[in-house]
Amino acid sequence: MSQPNDMSLPNDLDALWMPFTANRQFKQAPRLLVAAEGMYYTSHDGRQVLDGAAGLWCVNAGHGRRPIVEAIRRQAGELDYAPPFQMGHPKAFELASRLARLLPGDLDHVFFANSGSESVDTALKIALAYHRQRGEAARTRLIGRERGYHGVGFGGISVGGIGANRKQFGPLLGGVDHLPHTHDHTHQAFSRGQPAAGAHLADELEHLVALHDASTIAAVIVEPMAGSTGVLIPPVGYLERLRELCTRYGILLIFDEVITGFGRLGAGFAAERFGVQPDLLTMAKAVSNGAVPMGAVAVRKGLFDSFMTGPDSMIELFHGYTYSAHPLACAAALATLDLYRDEDLFARAAGLSPYWEDAVHGLKGHRHVIDLRNLGLVAGIELEPRPGAPGKRGYEAFLGCYEKGVLIRVTGDILALSPPLIIQTDQIDRLFGTVAEVLSGID
Ligand SMILES: Cc1ncc(COP(=O)(O)O)c(C=O)c1O
Repeated sequence: MSQPNDMSLPNDLDALWMPFTANRQFKQAPRLLVAAEGMYYTSHDGRQVLDGAAGLWCVNAGHGRRPIVEAIRRQAGELDYAPPFQMGHPKAFELASRLARLLPGDLDHVFFANSGSESVDTALKIALAYHRQRGEAARTRLIGRERGYHGVGFGGISVGGIGANRKQFGPLLGGVDHLPHTHDHTHQAFSRGQPAAGAHLADELEHLVALHDASTIAAVIVEPMAGSTGVLIPPVGYLERLRELCTRYGILLIFDEVITGFGRLGAGFAAERFGVQPDLLTMAKAVSNGAVPMGAVAVRKGLFDSFMTGPDSMIELFHGYTYSAHPLACAAALATLDLYRDEDLFARAAGLSPYWEDAVHGLKGHRHVIDLRNLGLVAGIELEPRPGAPGKRGYEAFLGCYEKGVLIRVTGDILALSPPLIIQTDQIDRLFGTVAEVLSGID
């Protein structure tokens, strides 16, 4: 048996079970990132790689930002950890207040978690507890949407709508149903921004209400723009309609803004961008610029207040994490919010988005491209699947871009681009130029 200080242990790739990765394939030709600065990663073989994905939709202010690095360093030296149950630390309260001020409308109470998945499960639990609290304990049904991604907890995959993420894991949560996804090639292909067609798909909620009765439905959860499934932009009027129906039937509306929060769509949050107010809003990723794991759920004032009704000595919600509002995460998030404010990055993203949109749609007519979608600083480039080998062409495009020094994301045959909001126009040109070149070179 090896000892912990056994220096003879080889540092090979074997022991790590990598998430959402074809482990054996990866280890035959590994891609390791060893440093990052601004818009670029450095790979283990010393190449500069332009980050077209903000890491994994998280590094909105760009990499290695000194104020964030310094804030984390300072915090680690000052207060490494504080228990979040029955105790607090100042930055947790400060961050909640800052977020409440940034969030639209009366989303002004914040519960902290450590990831998007935890934030989603937290939001679902709050929704269930809320109805029970108000004497509507029969409202236990949760409604998600096909192709939705809400992380990997049991709650998240139950309301999620990506088959591959569900099928290995048994029956999941009971009492869950799904709306249809909003994508429709026939009527929406090559839309610039929000597609004009498709608002009626929100009316499917009426069918679920007819089927289950509103009195059994607790919440509807959707990504305002579906990211991980391959960038599905909400049709004009769709989210508004969903809001209207949820209000009519007393159903809570949860926006999962783990990707769309913090400037990605050219506004603080998608809720603001679309002018639609959810009852709960989940966030993670860019809240701390990806530098320290953090997630959070914001809830509307009335919802929070309804929990603050029993005796003062009563714990109102039996939920929380050892690392809720971890001091290092709070320090990173506060420094991140300062950067977003001082560099006006959300407005920067909005200002760049017409240039971005033209760059995206410049690929129209290009080999293999069957659809192009864009919103804010997000692009979805859908490729025609290679006959008999779905996903292969997308994966080869991803590898080809990486070899040419550009990091993108791929979901099946859909390429997703979502760079840090500090991207420059010549870097946008390089991103799309590289994608075009790579697509020309693959079968
Ligand atoms: C909309 C959405 N919700 C939840 C998650 C899960 O976040 P995490 O991977 O931090 O658990 C993601 C991750 O991409 C996401 O895009």
